[in-house]
Amino acid sequence: MQGKKSLKYQVEPGGSLHGKLRVPGDKSISHRSIMLGSLADGVTEVTGFLEGEDSLATLNAFRAMGVEIEGPHAGRVSIHGVGMHGLHEPDAPLDLGNSGTSMRLLSGLLAGQDLAITLTGDSSLSGRPMKRVIEPLTRMGAIIGATEAGTAPLVISPNSHLKGIDYPLPMASAQVKSAVLLAGLYAQGETVVTEPAPTRDHTERMLQGFGYPVKRDGSRASLVGGGALKACRIDVPADISSATFFLVGATIAPDSEMVLEHVGINPTRDGVISILRLMGADIEIENEQTVGGEPVADIRVRSSRLHGIDIPEDLVPLAIDEFPALFIAAACAEGVTRLTGAEELRVKESDRIQVMADGLTVLGIEAEPTMDGLKIRGGRLTGGCVESHGDHRIAMSFAMAALRASGAVEILDCANVNTSFPGFVHVANQTGLHIRQSEVS
Ligand code: S3P
Repeated sequence: MQGKKSLKYQVEPGGSLHGKLRVPGDKSISHRSIMLGSLADGVTEVTGFLEGEDSLATLNAFRAMGVEIEGPHAGRVSIHGVGMHGLHEPDAPLDLGNSGTSMRLLSGLLAGQDLAITLTGDSSLSGRPMKRVIEPLTRMGAIIGATEAGTAPLVISPNSHLKGIDYPLPMASAQVKSAVLLAGLYAQGETVVTEPAPTRDHTERMLQGFGYPVKRDGSRASLVGGGALKACRIDVPADISSATFFLVGATIAPDSEMVLEHVGINPTRDGVISILRLMGADIEIENEQTVGGEPVADIRVRSSRLHGIDIPEDLVPLAIDEFPALFIAAACAEGVTRLTGAEELRVKESDRIQVMADGLTVLGIEAEPTMDGLKIRGGRLTGGCVESHGDHRIAMSFAMAALRASGAVEILDCANVNTSFPGFVHVANQTGLHIRQSEVS
């Protein structure tokens, strides 16, 4: 995963977006399909799997722990589950690249197993906070070493004595919730997690899909350790977080209309639709259905004039990965958009508040960062050169900004777009963008 070539995008200004598009599979669901499929009894068949670097990091980690996994071939993966106690110690540390979800969920899943395992990642992942998972897992009895700053590498010691806890999550984080629940599978007694606000519930849904009882009662999710998972089929929907770039692009570019097909619209993930609609976007949900326990639909979007809003704080966790793109929408809206209650954005793949404020400023937009959010005054975007800081979602968001810019937008450090959206440049160019990608030596 180390030594990636540096890539930059040169995006021509203007244009409109058209077409039907199925964006790649949901990243969160893809990770979880490998994790639970590996621990299940029997063969789990996955379709629509995201062949991006993050979910492949999870897949390779389980291969390194002895799980036979066929694929991915065009999104199909067959996982030969080894059962709850069938993983092996890998020969080397597990390198999880850029993927926070892999590291946090794996630390929970491995905390109560009789295995000594070290988890490492790239420079971005090695700077991200891991105390948030180490703290509850330690309370359960896990032994996990980290740097003094509470960052990776994480050194997990063999352990078969976890006990269930009743844990109020200090922040709205699905990764922390999932880490505690996955550790709970190996703990004695009941593990309860209470969240301060609803966060994505794919772990709870998928555990139930694998036949593992999870009790859900308002903000509480709980399970009792010691059970087993039964292999199943998983159809991974298209990722609403990847569809978001086109929802924003087709909204801000004149004369545009797109249909994003088979997108996961789980109510813990659909905040972007609510926020864009509050800003005046024209978004319709079509062909809604439930596939493998997850709601899925086609989303039609047409250009529209946006206006600034105060983003309701209760929508923040439901759109947590969509703010870079939403900030571009705000830059194209009339008036001021204010985001508050979103301090979590500072500890994503980059500090998304600062990095987006810096990039928008380069493009001539007034953007004032605060501790927990950003105030953006809509205006005219100019061309310019912006830094993505190796953050996939920042890179793709600024590519969409070019649709309304008066000059070309150059975006640096774009290789990590492959973590969540392989083929982005090709797909974006087919729908109406003009992106040239080149290697930087
Ligand atoms: C994820 C949870 C979110 C999100 C991340 C994926 C998951 O992180 O930002 O991209 O799959 O559980 P937090 O739990 O840190 O909010």
